[in-house]
Amino acid sequence: MQNNTFSTLFVGQNLIKLSAVDSTNNFLKSMLSNSEPVPEGTVIMAENQYQGRGQLESTWHAEPGKNLTFSLYLKPSFLLPAEQFILNMAVSLALCKSLQELTGDGLSIKWPNDIYFQDKKIGGMLIESTLSGNTIKSCVIGIGINVNQQVFEAGLLDSAGSIHQILHRDVNLVELLAQICSQIEAAYLKIRNGNYEGLREEYLEQLYQFNLKTKYRQNGEIIEGEIIDVSERGLLSMKTRDGIMTYNFKEIEFIKPQKK
Ligand code: BTN
Repeated sequence: MQNNTFSTLFVGQNLIKLSAVDSTNNFLKSMLSNSEPVPEGTVIMAENQYQGRGQLESTWHAEPGKNLTFSLYLKPSFLLPAEQFILNMAVSLALCKSLQELTGDGLSIKWPNDIYFQDKKIGGMLIESTLSGNTIKSCVIGIGINVNQQVFEAGLLDSAGSIHQILHRDVNLVELLAQICSQIEAAYLKIRNGNYEGLREEYLEQLYQFNLKTKYRQNGEIIEGEIIDVSERGLLSMKTRDGIMTYNFKEIEFIKPQKK
């Protein structure tokens, strides 16, 4: 039996629902900077997130009332800053598992943590950590999932998808959030107990374009590559014409496959 300190659900037990906010990550981070203690596992969700933030200063658009936009507070002090990718893998896999229950096959994780259904992005994650010396003090895990949105703005038409587009029906947002929280909790307790065995292999099995020779963009140039591994620190390894190359986030760009 696993030795979990928490026997009841703690992820999402403290749930704050906001009708509108600029960004749930910003809101949670400002709560953490106040003197009032915030319980680990606190989730902030917003019906309308009007200035959502994405990776590398991008903007996360979500039609109000139709999608999941939430942030979760975790304190993985059992991990060293250099081990943060363990948390990234655990949460990405947990997200995939909870969505798979709805969508079935077709989901994958586009390195490092985008959630894809076939060739469209249906979810993204923005993890913002605060370090204190060589320990992780806090992690704000912001998650956006396109759930019931049916129409996307022109620039996203080819790249974004939603669960509604897959199932052709609406999904209850609160129920889906509860499912996701319980999967994240299970995954988190596992890594907190030091059980990472098989995590990287599981992550690789779910990885978008893993072991597939296809085109990427590197420094503005199109190259052919095949993803063959992701290191413990989360670097992407790719077999290319010039040998095996290792990439950090944004050093390599995925190219959308051509429509057949
Ligand atoms: C990405 O793929 O670029 C990351 C998107 C992360 C979006 C979520 S929505 C909830 C949380 N609040 C934010 O401002 N961003 C994250």
